[in-house]
Amino acid sequence: MSTPSSLAFVGAGSLGQAFAGLLATSGQAVTLVATLSSRERLLQAERIRLRGALDLEIPVEAAPAPAGRVGITADPGDLPSNTGVIFTTKSHQLPAAIAMVRAVWPRADDATSWVAGVQNGIIKDDLLVKAFGVERVVGAVTILGAQREADGGVTVTSRGATYLGEFAGDSSPRVAAAAQTLRAAGIPTEAVTDIQSVLWSKVCNAVGVFGVCVLTRSSGSRMSSNPDLMRAYHALIRETATVAAAYGVTIGDYEGFPIRSYLTKSETKMIASAASRAATFAGESGAGGTESFPSMVQDLLAGRPMESDQIFGDVVRRAEYVGITVPRIALVRDLIAGLNRTTSHR
Ligand SMILES: NC(=O)c1ccc[n+]([C@@H]2O[C@H](COP(=O)([O-])OP(=O)(O)OC[C@H]3O[C@@H](n4cnc5c(N)ncnc54)[C@H](OP(=O)(O)O)[C@@H]3O)[C@@H](O)[C@H]2O)c1
Repeated sequence: MSTPSSLAFVGAGSLGQAFAGLLATSGQAVTLVATLSSRERLLQAERIRLRGALDLEIPVEAAPAPAGRVGITADPGDLPSNTGVIFTTKSHQLPAAIAMVRAVWPRADDATSWVAGVQNGIIKDDLLVKAFGVERVVGAVTILGAQREADGGVTVTSRGATYLGEFAGDSSPRVAAAAQTLRAAGIPTEAVTDIQSVLWSKVCNAVGVFGVCVLTRSSGSRMSSNPDLMRAYHALIRETATVAAAYGVTIGDYEGFPIRSYLTKSETKMIASAASRAATFAGESGAGGTESFPSMVQDLLAGRPMESDQIFGDVVRRAEYVGITVPRIALVRDLIAGLNRTTSHR
């Protein structure tokens, strides 16, 4: 049985286009499953445009495309066999996307294909396991930063860091091969043996950053330089970490979210180091620095639905299940769910 080294993506938004475009640029064959409207738009444009931290135009054509081009389709039946398929839809779009793919893929004679999801939160993996079976699911986390622009292009703010790992906690040829494929495409990727730690550490950060920044409409740097907001962030990551601990997960330090260090520092030290990082960032990026809004704030400002239940609601439910109370996260969940009702137009 061969180990899949090719990757495909479901969801042609910011992350799907960035991942697929970078893979094609590195000379790999890649399939991207899009909605009908995005398939038409990308085929008409004949290219994916990535700018920001990189500047690339990647040719696209109807799948299957030769290596070096992105093959676009709205039919998951075009997904190849012996492939790792990474779902890059928003969390609330994931159940429908999974159902659509699972109906036709993987085919009965395909024993090696696997799936992963890069959505924030951890409920995505439960959904994938339920549909595809535990053996086929690989854990994934990314902080590659990308955002769709009104002209159809995608701004990549940072190549970030991507983590892949088996839930069983061991290393595997399929994870090693996928990490190598992503690295070859210029996407910094680590194969890890404790993906639960990475997932929960990222959840801690998501609860803290999204909770504070959405409710105060702040950028990340504004939060970091404001001691009161950092106190709120600290309280939210502490509360989330108690839930992780109840599930036996050790919180760690990862690029972009060194949560263990945040938790072990006193509140005063953490506030001081966050302020100094924010000042360094402002100095590096010119007068005052550019304001970069966390993705959930971007959704709020654009009137798009926020992934509130999949992040805050899910952590509250997991806390209740093990008898822990998380009053701050529950309050944030209710406030953001309320905002979702009044500000989401789509
Ligand atoms: N962007 C980032 O920097 C970043 C970083 C880390 C994690 N994440 C997480 O990654 C996930 C994706 O984020 P994103 O920014 O890439 O979102 P996005 O730009 O909104 O892209 C989602 C894409 O999925 C497509 N889609 C929805 N349902 C589908 C279906 N059934 N079949 C095929 N495609 C479908 C959407 O179609 P349309 O084109 O028709 O809208 C859209 O193109 C989110 O959960 C986010 O929290 C994002």
